[in-house]
Amino acid sequence: MSTQTIAYSDEIAKATDPIFDKLSRQYSREHWESIAPYIYEINRLKLEKNAVILAHNYMTPDIFFGVGDIVGDSLLLAQKAATSTADIIVQCGVHFMAETSKILCPEKKILMPDMEAGCSLAESITAQDVRDLKEEYPDIPIVTYVNTSAEVKAESDICCTSSNALKIVNALGEQGHGSVIMTPDMYLAQNIAAQTDVKIIIWEGSCIVHERFSPQDIIDARKTYDDIVVLAHPECPPNVMAEADFAGSTAQMDNYIKTQQPKRAMLMTECSMSDNIAANNPNVEMIGTCQMCPYMKRITLPKILKALQSEEPEIIIDPEISRRAKLAVDRMLELS
Ligand code: 13P
Ligand code: SF4
Repeated sequence: MSTQTIAYSDEIAKATDPIFDKLSRQYSREHWESIAPYIYEINRLKLEKNAVILAHNYMTPDIFFGVGDIVGDSLLLAQKAATSTADIIVQCGVHFMAETSKILCPEKKILMPDMEAGCSLAESITAQDVRDLKEEYPDIPIVTYVNTSAEVKAESDICCTSSNALKIVNALGEQGHGSVIMTPDMYLAQNIAAQTDVKIIIWEGSCIVHERFSPQDIIDARKTYDDIVVLAHPECPPNVMAEADFAGSTAQMDNYIKTQQPKRAMLMTECSMSDNIAANNPNVEMIGTCQMCPYMKRITLPKILKALQSEEPEIIIDPEISRRAKLAVDRMLELS
């Protein structure tokens, strides 16, 4: 089956209707019938090729619920990649996530449905920048957010994600480091600095999605809905975090909604995350303020199918860079 000639059939309806039942608020029946053949064929090919799909929480619901085998935040996807028995991993997320999988599983084929799915944070720092920081601050450990290239990780002492950044910084503090350098997200660094005694030296990168939120978005929403619970990702500026009720990684926000079941909630994060949470929590009304990540949205069902059929594009990393980057990722996983 090519990506051009996929026809809806009774067999496809039978296989995909249970998914549609969950997503009928997000997709019309007509739209669903145009995408269901992709879901069917991707799931068939996964079995045939012993492939697994790692889907980040920012994937659209058709990908997240239709073809994702492991869904979650950056930390969980890295942990699951490390223990996967699949021969092929299709990374539905952005490029740095696929690189992290390759660093952890160099023997596996890691497919990236669109190589242009980057990240503004990853683009904000180079390996040379990290080498320069090490020269300027030779005794201070460098904590690098996973949203970076393999080359940048290779120059860093330890990685972190938004789930474990505070834990990692505090662990370095307990080891006697009074200061750490955090790269490349200045807002994550500022938000962590507000919760620890460890002094944090900040690199001035930012996420083009989360930097667009403002405290006024929350103040305005509270005027309309006085019972609204606001959850913010720590890539948001500190003045946004100050107005929110809960701060956490995408998985931590998801878990909060699952366990607390607030009547109404608003997420200061990427749009698809709200759609996925709404589908999983029909009793929670999700109030829209969200920003779209143009990189995440490059991943689509036709591109996933094409990647599985052709087994490319594949992530390739220089083995020595990968070996050094793995030290930083492994140190993070040990502390997580
Ligand atoms: P999480 O680690 O919270 O999933 O975040 C990744 C990301 O890119 C957020 O913008
Ligand atoms: Fe990068 Fe921001 Fe997109 Fe996450 S949301 S992938 S940090 S640009």
